[in-house]
Amino acid sequence: MNIGIIGSGAIGGTAARHFTDAGHEITISNSRGPESLTDLVEELGPNAQAGTPAEAATFGDVVLEAIPYHAYEALPVDKLADTIVISAANYYVGRDGILSFDGRTQTELVAAHLSESTVIKAFNTMGARTLREESRPEADPDDRLALFVAGDDPEAKGVVGDLIDDIGFTAVDTGPLAEGGRLQEPGSPIYTEPMTAGEARSALAAFRTVVVARDRGYYATPREITTAELAENRDLTEQTTLEHLRRGTRGLVDQYLQDP
Ligand SMILES: NC(=O)c1ccc[n+]([C@@H]2O[C@H](COP(=O)([O-])OP(=O)(O)OC[C@H]3O[C@@H](n4cnc5c(N)ncnc54)[C@H](OP(=O)(O)O)[C@@H]3O)[C@@H](O)[C@H]2O)c1
Repeated sequence: MNIGIIGSGAIGGTAARHFTDAGHEITISNSRGPESLTDLVEELGPNAQAGTPAEAATFGDVVLEAIPYHAYEALPVDKLADTIVISAANYYVGRDGILSFDGRTQTELVAAHLSESTVIKAFNTMGARTLREESRPEADPDDRLALFVAGDDPEAKGVVGDLIDDIGFTAVDTGPLAEGGRLQEPGSPIYTEPMTAGEARSALAAFRTVVVARDRGYYATPREITTAELAENRDLTEQTTLEHLRRGTRGLVDQYLQDP
């Protein structure tokens, strides 16, 4: 597959290495121009070339943007039209300044800018070093580390999931861009916390049980739903439900799934 990469730093450069090793063709770009990428493309080999962000955008069937969050409005909207864009950028106030999200999640704001693209949030929660060192293409998919994906287009999520698989990780779906994206933002317990795909699915199942528990009044005083009723609602055993409730926390749910 042709993959465009915008941002050649810790994440863009590391992903470029994995994609070329997996046999994909890449065009990588940064803010300083292709001439600054000569050494990198030489090191990456014949599957790699350097370009401008616009050239990377045009080249890619899929484009990874891995630039500082505050620069997202520089992403070329026209060139990225009808393209799957993986957004790895995370917002940090200290680096990115104060931005207004108006109730939207970080990647929803990027998607609003890239209004003609299909934006999938991925590569956000894993530190660059882990991404570089923990790729295990030969391992059982459940035992590889999880790379979380969120988005509103199942087909595009599948395409990104296949790429993640190609580079030795396993895609674990956190849901749509709004709720699923929120779960991946800095501060979440799955943020920069390496876990296998099996562990990640189990953590998300526990989280979802807590969400349902909150919605059904499990935490209300007096309690409006019993553990047995909750287990039935979730189609789980009572013991699994109790384990989920021990692992999840109401505070986490309040923080990540509150209405804007
Ligand atoms: N590092 C991590 O562990 C990690 C993990 C997950 C997600 N993230 C997120 O991923 C994004 C990239 O992080 P990073 O650590 O890879 O950053 P980084 O090492 O500082 O690299 C940033 C890259 O973005 C390029 N860039 C900046 N503005 C640009 C623009 N307007 N157009 C094109 N390219 C531009 C820079 O180009 P120049 O080199 O030419 O300036 C640089 O190549 C950030 O939003 C970060 O929060 C990082």
